[in-house]
Amino acid sequence: MPKIIAITSEKGGVGKSTLAVHLAGACHERGLAIALIDEDGRVGSALRWAGRGEGGLGFPVLDADEVKPKKLADLDAVIIDTEGRPKRKELRELAGRADLILVPSGVSALELESTRELLDFFEDEDAARKVRVVLTRVPPTGQAAEQTRDDLRDDGWTVCNTPVRHYAAYQKAAEAGTLCRDVRDPRAEAAWDDILRLSREVI
Ligand SMILES: Nc1ncnc2c1ncn2[C@@H]1O[C@H](COP(=O)(O)OP(=O)(O)OP(=O)(O)O)[C@@H](O)[C@H]1O
Ligand SMILES: [Mg+2]
Repeated sequence: MPKIIAITSEKGGVGKSTLAVHLAGACHERGLAIALIDEDGRVGSALRWAGRGEGGLGFPVLDADEVKPKKLADLDAVIIDTEGRPKRKELRELAGRADLILVPSGVSALELESTRELLDFFEDEDAARKVRVVLTRVPPTGQAAEQTRDDLRDDGWTVCNTPVRHYAAYQKAAEAGTLCRDVRDPRAEAAWDDILRLSREVI
């Protein structure tokens, strides 16, 4: 059975869909059999992202309502992109079926406050061992990622080594319906390198 990787956050707009699409793209490039499931019913989701580009993203992006579990059985991993500000009931259910829960978070104090709320919730649900924080939209210069990672680790949380830095290439990729690897941008390669390294940490 595939490894089920869910991406969720307390706040909206932290970079879940960006992370979901790119992680799936990195796994695909590495030769893994992967599918991305869009569980965000609203606009601006992974499905729309895939629809904007010519010829899709190269890997399947599926509508949650149309997923046939049998068709997923042979995959190496399934990545689930979820809605921002999920209800507790949905999170509980997600924690039950996911093998790994990635919680993207910015490094600002406000974002970390809501990230910690979500982490506490998963701890209460006895799901803390499944959870890993991914620091996203991290300023490319300075020590913010290292500092935040150390603080969270001191509190017992698992934090991925590789932060996803803040690069315009991700926004360009979303607009073009492609991956940052494929946009014209001086930092496209640096952005893709973050994603590839992160993907090797999680799958
Ligand atoms: N690493 C990054 N560098 C620069 N911009 C980013 C990065 N990650 C995400 N963004 C931008 O931040 C905005 C929100 O990203 P995204 O849509 O991925 O968040 P989300 O958590 O899926 O939002 P929602 O909760 O609405 O589903 C987008 O404009 C996206 O291009
Ligand atoms: Mg999203």
